[in-house]
Amino acid sequence: MPELRQSKGHRYFQDTKFRRIHIRALERPYIAQGSSFKEYPDVEKIDLPKDFPKVDADLWTVLQNRRSRRKYSGPALTLEELALLLWSTQGLSAQAGPYFLRTAPSAGALYPIETYLAVDNVEGLDAGLFHFNVKDFRLERLTDMAAGNLVAHAALDQGFIAKASVTFLWSVIFRRNMAKYGHRGMRYICLDAGHICQNLLLAAEALGRSSCPVAALYDDELNDLLGLDGEEESVLYLAPVG
Ligand SMILES: Cc1cc2nc3c(=O)[nH]c(=O)nc-3n(C[C@H](O)[C@H](O)[C@H](O)COP(=O)(O)O)c2cc1C
Repeated sequence: MPELRQSKGHRYFQDTKFRRIHIRALERPYIAQGSSFKEYPDVEKIDLPKDFPKVDADLWTVLQNRRSRRKYSGPALTLEELALLLWSTQGLSAQAGPYFLRTAPSAGALYPIETYLAVDNVEGLDAGLFHFNVKDFRLERLTDMAAGNLVAHAALDQGFIAKASVTFLWSVIFRRNMAKYGHRGMRYICLDAGHICQNLLLAAEALGRSSCPVAALYDDELNDLLGLDGEEESVLYLAPVG
């Protein structure tokens, strides 16, 4: 199948395999480490509630019932529900030496994924784009415009996204991971993002909410929306919740 072997993805996978005979020789570029936490110091901050709603759902039922759901109606998300979803995806849950560990695993505990929200319909939170400050468990307001339509347009016009109460957008800060893992890091970054999204899907299901992973997107249109340069940090994945 030469056409498969000529694809860039296949080439990347082959080029970044660890092989016992030359694991130490795998070329590792020098990449400076970036800071572990991102924050927007000069914007409005919204503390997230930690009195999460009581959820009466067992893991096995949630696993059985989870589906990618693309119809969003019903009541607005509450701020408490949103806080629980954020905690489920990237909440700090333990400390081990210098490492702050989170609810989703991350290669090398490096946490290269950042979370942004396009909020359209959340009780007690005016619409807008936000950055999730993991360390302080709060939101940082980037804009005060409802952006669901713009996100849907940038996600290959998948109209169902525009109907969500909130869309989670995940970006990657490459150097956080690649300073350690070099070329191979991109594998781990995508795996990290998968863990985070799955936590969201399961938490949404447990809350009786609907969600769907979305990776079909015009990367730089979403980067422009969030003010990301697309080089150091770039949008990778998103998930509407309704
Ligand atoms: C990496 C990834 C990307 C996806 N991208 C999209 C997408 O852009 N649009 C969409 O409607 N569904 C998307 N999905 C959802 C899949 O279509 C869905 O998971 C699949 O049909 C299986 O259905 P289930 O999730 O209900 O089990 C994506 C899923 C994954 C894991």
